[in-house]
Amino acid sequence: MSVGIDEISFYTPNYYLDLRTLAKAKNIEVEKYYNGIGQEKMSMPGHDEDIVTMAANAAKPIIDHTDTSSIRTLLFATETGVDQSKSAGVYAHRLLGLSPNCRVVELKQACYSATAAIQMACALVARQPEQKVLVLASDIARYDLGSPGEATQGCGAVAMVVSAKPRLVEIDPDVGNFAEDVMDFWRPNYRSNALVDGKYSTKVYLHSLKKAWENFVHSSSLAFTNFSHFCYHLPFSRMAEKAHRHLSRINNSTLNLEAMTRQFEDSLHYNRVIGNSYTASIYISLVSLLENCKHDLEGKKIGFFSYGSGCVSEFFSGTVVSGYDKFLHTLGHQKMLAEREEVDYETYLALYHYPEYTDGEAHSFEAMTKGHFRLAGVNGHKREYVSC
Ligand code: HMG
Repeated sequence: MSVGIDEISFYTPNYYLDLRTLAKAKNIEVEKYYNGIGQEKMSMPGHDEDIVTMAANAAKPIIDHTDTSSIRTLLFATETGVDQSKSAGVYAHRLLGLSPNCRVVELKQACYSATAAIQMACALVARQPEQKVLVLASDIARYDLGSPGEATQGCGAVAMVVSAKPRLVEIDPDVGNFAEDVMDFWRPNYRSNALVDGKYSTKVYLHSLKKAWENFVHSSSLAFTNFSHFCYHLPFSRMAEKAHRHLSRINNSTLNLEAMTRQFEDSLHYNRVIGNSYTASIYISLVSLLENCKHDLEGKKIGFFSYGSGCVSEFFSGTVVSGYDKFLHTLGHQKMLAEREEVDYETYLALYHYPEYTDGEAHSFEAMTKGHFRLAGVNGHKREYVSC
């Protein structure tokens, strides 16, 4: 029986900073951002948005037409946790009106954990094919102002329904894993911004890709030439080019540069204008591929490389299902991106310095989101989420 991704939808907030503006403020050539790291814009959350509201907003277009009683598990992947104890998924569960007979849990391992969620979801569905699993992945990427990571910030969320006989992508059972205890990127509990050894992190990413691939070919009958397209974790879109060149070299690929680029370029469109969304990033890259590739992808094999700093990585594969294009949310995604509001440098700084109240008093947040759910305020150390 086939299991995999039945439906997928993403959300990103309605504010963005064009990296031209950042380049001007920092006196850096814009080509470094646009070409060197391959990023044009970064999404910024309003003060009434967080991982919960973004994830619920990503899921809403799916939930609106889904029999929610079939969703027996909600897995919430994030590294921007809002509580050390309570799962962000429980808030999303209420906002989305899911059944009380639903398992809810949060998963963490940097940018990797949405892939753990997908694999766990596939295993649950294989055991009970009548159930569906809702996977939410939601993150806000923040680095210190003035650090090399600043241009690679961003935010977004993705919602995926995993089911039997999926309508979009069947996920194959064979995977390749690689894990190693390294300090390339981390965020201690007392910090709201990540710490990162940037250049080292890109080296660890590429090393992990090689190791996960080697482990994959050990268990799978698939070879590099069986794949028509690839989706990589995208901390910045140029990373896909570095990764794909690396993997092609390892496999002695004879493809020329143009043909090699065609294997990943359509997966980059959305991430280039959203920025890093950590756990959501590789799945937003899948949406970008499915919605922007001019060729019919039916029956095509996609190779996925999921990487989470620290580090855990996985290479896995999927097959695009016949008729997939009828079940995409292309128009909604493109409208959301087109209608975003560009902010100037001062507004970017104001959004960056979001209020973080720790006094337990009542505070309300200005309504800024254009989404269906918002964080209205905090009171008595409790977060108050509402539908708009
Ligand atoms: P940097 O020091 O700002 O940039 O750091 P650079 O000097 O290395 O330049 C970047 C590229 O731009 C280079 O190209 C330059 O040549 C080029 P490359 O050598 O790489 O081919 N360049 C130009 N190109 C055109 N015109 C110009 C120009 N000037 C320079 N005028 C770095 C870059 C990525 C390190 C930094 O942005 C950073 O620290 N980012 C955050 C960390 C990160 O994204 N790491 C990626 C791997 S780890 C990962 O993916 C996990 C993560 O998502 C977290 C998680 O798992 O939770 C981060």
